Amino acid sequence: MQKLSFLNEQISIPANELYLPAPDEMQLEAILQTAMSSPDHGELTPFRFLVIQGEALTELSEVFKQAAIERGADDLTILKQQKKPLRSPMIITVIAKITDNPSIPEVEQILCAGVAAQHIQLACRSLDFGSIWLTGDNCYDIFVYQALGLEINERIIGFIYVGTPDETNHKKNRSDAKKVTRFWKTSQHTDFAI
Ligand SMILES: Cc1cc2nc3c(=O)[nH]c(=O)nc-3n(C[C@H](O)[C@H](O)[C@H](O)COP(=O)(O)O)c2cc1C
Repeated sequence: MQKLSFLNEQISIPANELYLPAPDEMQLEAILQTAMSSPDHGELTPFRFLVIQGEALTELSEVFKQAAIERGADDLTILKQQKKPLRSPMIITVIAKITDNPSIPEVEQILCAGVAAQHIQLACRSLDFGSIWLTGDNCYDIFVYQALGLEINERIIGFIYVGTPDETNHKKNRSDAKKVTRFWKTSQHTDFAI
């Protein structure tokens, strides 16, 4: 049971509380490798990653700014969007690659990409990095998709901001799983057996 505490203590760190250093090349490779054990129906590997760091973050900030302008955003929103990528030293963009498949629906492929993203978050923390999975308007914006070179069958499912937290002691109270669990048997539903 003790081993489960690693999962129970998983926590997201706000993007503006993630500092240098970001994972180095070897650490990044190890982190991304954990995503490859996401449960993958049909072994489609329905995801890929775009790692954005250093000067590329400034380039992404221009992309977010332009996208906000294209969306007709007001000046304050444009500025906020422009600043977003500059909060953390690394962003791992998780992209779902949807293949037309008669037995593996789109939702399963997106879920597989989602689990890959969560593996990345857990792997980051196991190496003492912090992370947060963010979406927002840029995740669904055609201008951003074009700038990042997405294909027609691809969707950004999240920007995972990564860096070093100022402290490793972040904690959060989680609600009780028993509240959302019933045991099903024919038409009888019973509460969690305590
Ligand atoms: C698909 C997805 C998209 C998310 N998008 C956002 C977002 O745009 N903004 C945000 O504040 N949190 C977003 N979150 C939630 C954060 O990643 C994080 O879970 C939340 O801040 C709660 O922190 P916790 O993970 O420590 O419970 C998203 C989570 C998921 C799974």
